[in-house]
Amino acid sequence: MAAHKPLSLRLAVPLALALLLALGLVGDFLWASSSTSGSRLASASKKVKVNSGRVRGNKQLPEVYLNATYADLPAPHWDWEEMPAAPVPRLDGYSAQIGDLLYVFAGYEHLDHVHSHVDVYNFTSNTWTGRFDIPKEMANSHLGMVTDGRYIYALTGQFGPQCRSSINRNFVLDTETREWHELPPLPVPRYAPATQLWRGRLHVMGGGKEDRHEPGLEHWSLAVKDGKALENEWRNEVPIPRGGPHRACVVANDKLFVIGGQEGDFMPKPGSPIFKCARRHEVVYGDVYMLDDGRKWKQLSPMPKPDSHIECAWVIVNNSIIIVGGTTEKHPITKKMILVGEVFRFDLDTLTWSVIGRMPFRIKTALAVASVDYRFAVRHFKLSAFSRS
Ligand SMILES: *[C@@H]1O[C@H](CO)[C@@H](O)[C@H](O)[C@H]1NC(C)=O
Ligand SMILES: *[C@@H]1O[C@H](CO)[C@@H](O)[C@H](O)[C@H]1NC(C)=O
Ligand SMILES: *[C@@H]1O[C@H](CO)[C@@H](O)[C@H](O)[C@H]1NC(C)=O
Repeated sequence: MAAHKPLSLRLAVPLALALLLALGLVGDFLWASSSTSGSRLASASKKVKVNSGRVRGNKQLPEVYLNATYADLPAPHWDWEEMPAAPVPRLDGYSAQIGDLLYVFAGYEHLDHVHSHVDVYNFTSNTWTGRFDIPKEMANSHLGMVTDGRYIYALTGQFGPQCRSSINRNFVLDTETREWHELPPLPVPRYAPATQLWRGRLHVMGGGKEDRHEPGLEHWSLAVKDGKALENEWRNEVPIPRGGPHRACVVANDKLFVIGGQEGDFMPKPGSPIFKCARRHEVVYGDVYMLDDGRKWKQLSPMPKPDSHIECAWVIVNNSIIIVGGTTEKHPITKKMILVGEVFRFDLDTLTWSVIGRMPFRIKTALAVASVDYRFAVRHFKLSAFSRS
């Protein structure tokens, strides 16, 4: 077990199984041309043959092989514990942790079906304990999500399956009463914008613009308290230097961090009545931006590798931001999407990165949660996750 490891966390990634299923399912539709999913660990042994193409004299140079694990960084081994599988498979699901409950929102079951409900997991009883609906008008994926410990804000996002349009409507859930309310809409819709609560204001920035591809740089904020907007309109804030969706957005030590992400995303095929997703050029990056005075973004050391699809894949433990999984730059030869299996740590004292572990398999849009007892027992964290059964 990881208890003897220097930085051993009780980290749970409860949807690993669900994610795996989801990836397997949609693999044949959308992410096929794009996925190195966990279930394809086997592909680690599948070699891609590359002809170097260069001929010296009459002699062909040796062929170069680049397998799917070429992008893995060296990482300490971590043992993981299997936990109850999620009720439904989910890709691009969102989550928020409050006490010992993890609320898991919406997401794709597969490319043609999105969920419209919340599943609730209790980390004390280790069981899935509840399910309730999201508002009919709320987005099903590519949300911006953040919680203050009671209210969960669910902002903008994509409404419906495939690569449908995004909306600018925003909702808030009171987890005590399980009532939903609506907040003032954003000036424009966004796909997967970076979202956080910082100094009493809800901040939303970046994300993908209405065409789903062009990175947005805009940044807005809205004063909120106890689930209510204190203003009628969003305020313009300093734009983020680099735009795009699927980034981790974290407030720690009163500073706002935006980590990783990508420029570009799948777009609806022109004229397709079902908004069928079509792949477009993407650039994944590991940039880290920090706002401490609210006026000027500072760029910090980048992640050990480019990483995207990590908006709910982080936790704060021991004055560090821990990020699990994601997607990185595509395979240089097969052009397939490469998923990430490492556990990264960003030390908030030194503002530097390290690779501290590896997940049981590579996972896209992992939902990470640090179980409550880490607050009381920092020395003996235990790693846990759902793994394949
Ligand atoms: C917390 O982080 C420090 C370094 O920043 C490390 O020395 C220590 O072992 C960590 N503690 C735990 C319990 O992981
Ligand atoms: C795949 O490549 C990695 C890194 O280049 C190497 O460590 C590993 O042994 C290779 N695996 C196989 C099955 O060839
Ligand atoms: C979680 O489960 C534990 C053990 O069954 C229970 O005592 C606790 O009240 C539950 N938490 C919530 C918030 O319902």
